[in-house]
Amino acid sequence: MKKISFVFGTRPEAIKLAPVIIEMKKHPEFEVNVCVTAQHREMLDQVLEVFNIKPDFDLNLMTPDQTLANLTAEAIVKLDNYFKTYKPDLVFVQGDTTSVLAASIAAFYNNIRIAHVEAGLRTFNKSAPFPEEINRVLTSHIADLHFAPTETAKNNLIKEGITEEKIFVTGNTVIDALFHVKDIVSKNPPEVMGVNKEILDTNKPIVLITGHRRENFGKGFENICAAIAELADEFKDHYYIYPVHLNPNVRKPVNEILGNKKNILLIEPLSYLPFVYLMTKAKIILTDSGGIQEEAPSLGKPVLVMRDVTERPEAVETGCVKLVGTDKIKIIDAVKILLTSDEHYKIMQMIINPYGDGKASNRIIKIIQKVFEIIRL
Ligand code: UD1
Ligand code: UDP
Repeated sequence: MKKISFVFGTRPEAIKLAPVIIEMKKHPEFEVNVCVTAQHREMLDQVLEVFNIKPDFDLNLMTPDQTLANLTAEAIVKLDNYFKTYKPDLVFVQGDTTSVLAASIAAFYNNIRIAHVEAGLRTFNKSAPFPEEINRVLTSHIADLHFAPTETAKNNLIKEGITEEKIFVTGNTVIDALFHVKDIVSKNPPEVMGVNKEILDTNKPIVLITGHRRENFGKGFENICAAIAELADEFKDHYYIYPVHLNPNVRKPVNEILGNKKNILLIEPLSYLPFVYLMTKAKIILTDSGGIQEEAPSLGKPVLVMRDVTERPEAVETGCVKLVGTDKIKIIDAVKILLTSDEHYKIMQMIINPYGDGKASNRIIKIIQKVFEIIRL
């Protein structure tokens, strides 16, 4: 039996690896072991609960307002220990967080092969997203198998000299997670903590907002909040619902600038089911999140991305995602057009699935089976 580790630490990694873990557990030739760094605590636990995943190892690393250096150093040391104890044949990592880079380095030091899910995303700008662009470049050069969500991602890897035979285009596993949850919430609408059912069921438009990128801390977030405050004053019959990320660098400006407006609902981070339900109820989504850029096109929701660059160009090219940066006026203008012009709204409102068909996990498992069979990894 092959021993397969899954190492992850944050909300999006958990959402995107959950379908792969669930799929792999169906195959008796694999012994699945889950190790969480708990780079996130509450936001990770929310996802583990939804997908009923019980970690075998929990490194419990999160500290309030943690620094990149501290988290990375602690994670490498503890993961080194984990790999020496469990000795997997292969380790799965996903995405571009500190947990991914630390797990890749620790696995490499222990001569353990690495499979990287969501490989090949690039902005080619090392400051945006910071530090994720460098985390993923380094991970690509340490990893042994690369599961690219799209052809664009695959080509990025090839240009960086990654061997083509080790790259597999599978779609993004987030769509597997989304499709699974979308069916559940359409049959059984969940409670959205902090939002009355009447608000969700009225015809008043909902603008859904999330944000957490490090490169937006400070001025960027102040501009974003100032834009939302002005929009809330102008469109008083609209609701602005903002599940606020637990990072204190986000919470401080958001609470200070947006804390006392009647039609702005600042709520706690939502569990995945209510969040997906809220996405289905939103008219537009204003975000700097990576995962939401991938999910919203499959739900037919226009997304305005509060960043200057994106590693996910596919949906921008089709027109349902638009980059608006963090300039106050630009954000206000872009939201206003969508809220007031049906013509503009319809152009952006299309259901497309550039990031996958919901079968990425299945493809990944089949490839892993072949790899063990043929290459004798
Ligand atoms: C991290 C990832 C980012 C990813 C994001 C997803 C890095 C460098 N950043 O950013 O790539 O897009 O997660 O959300 O890996 N906190 C809590 N409880 C939680 C989670 C966070 O209190 O459940 C607070 C803590 O004070 C923590 C801080 O947020 O120290 C920052 O968390 P961290 O994981 O370092 O950074 P994120 O901004 O969440
Ligand atoms: N999400 C969630 N609850 C929330 C906000 C987001 O479950 O309150 C989900 C969202 O659907 C997506 C993922 O979390 O799948 C995105 O996480 P985040 O924005 O924190 O990270 P990123 O994708 O930018 O790395």
